[in-house]
Amino acid sequence: MSFEHKSVLLEECLEGLDIKPDGIYVDCTLGGGGHSYHIASRLEGGRLIGLDRDDDALKAAGERLSCFGERVVLYKTNFSELSSALDDLGIDKVDGFLFDLGVSSYQLDTPERGFSYRYDAPLDMRMDRTSGITAAELIETAEYGELVAILRDYGEEKFAPQIASAIIRARQTSPIDTTFALRDVVASAFPAKARAKEKQHPAKRSFQAFRIAVNSELESVRSGVSSAVDRLKSGGRICVISFHSLEDRIVKNIFAEAAEGCTCPRDFPVCVCGADPKLKLITKHPITSKEDELEDNSRAHSAKLRIAERR
Ligand SMILES: C[S@@+](CC[C@H](N)C(=O)[O-])C[C@H]1O[C@@H](n2cnc3c(N)ncnc32)[C@H](O)[C@@H]1O
Ligand SMILES: [Zn+2]
Repeated sequence: MSFEHKSVLLEECLEGLDIKPDGIYVDCTLGGGGHSYHIASRLEGGRLIGLDRDDDALKAAGERLSCFGERVVLYKTNFSELSSALDDLGIDKVDGFLFDLGVSSYQLDTPERGFSYRYDAPLDMRMDRTSGITAAELIETAEYGELVAILRDYGEEKFAPQIASAIIRARQTSPIDTTFALRDVVASAFPAKARAKEKQHPAKRSFQAFRIAVNSELESVRSGVSSAVDRLKSGGRICVISFHSLEDRIVKNIFAEAAEGCTCPRDFPVCVCGADPKLKLITKHPITSKEDELEDNSRAHSAKLRIAERR
């Protein structure tokens, strides 16, 4: 399988990063190296650091970006460890950070990664296959309350209690350790009327929910984006593309707080914290894909890009 992945909001990110040819740019979600390729092409004397927690992504991007030689440095890490990765690379401040969150089409479309209900495969769902527990292990051990919370909070699934009960019943007979086993248990928990009304596969939200839980995606976004704000040079830019409302809300809040500065309670008559604003918001409202990109790329439909600049 080739690393076929159309980079979302590419032009908007390149413009948003306001690339300086001699700058240091960090692509925190390298994937197949799509965005990185175009950033690196604009550098002269500058450097692009590409981070990913997925070995396959690093390998594919390494091939795609080999033409840039030493201008590009790839490094395996969860971006929740952004600060120590930069320390390790000997980099203090950065001219621009890009986050293109979530999974790549390559990860989704590689059956054995276990991300998709479209192919039957072991239920893995880890972006980094060398650490953490798989979705099968999570589903085997989670208690009812935890399953409901995952499905409700990360999948915004209204049938969370019914699905959690169906999982607990099913796993008493045999382990739910393949994508199709999970798909069928989830579908069986939907009332027939609700299933008939669904425009998408009834398991789509549940798969998203377990993927977010397995990879601690929201915690990573929180710490990764906050660290990036701290490591930006004055005038440096941060661009974050998110794909669902939970991620977007986290990014929006981190940016808003950093743009506000003062963290005193609202009812204080005067500021006593003395905190200065760190960011200037470049996008008041997130940028979404234009019509031609929507026609061309299904991932673009839910993409939202927020951009901010370090003061
Ligand atoms: C949507 S893809 C990026 C695609 C890329 N922008 C391109 O144009 O080819 C997201 C990538 O980020 C990686 N990723 C997601 N969360 C991560 C995290 N917390 N730390 C490191 N990499 C992460 C995934 O493994 C995946 O390869
Ligand atoms: Zn204050």
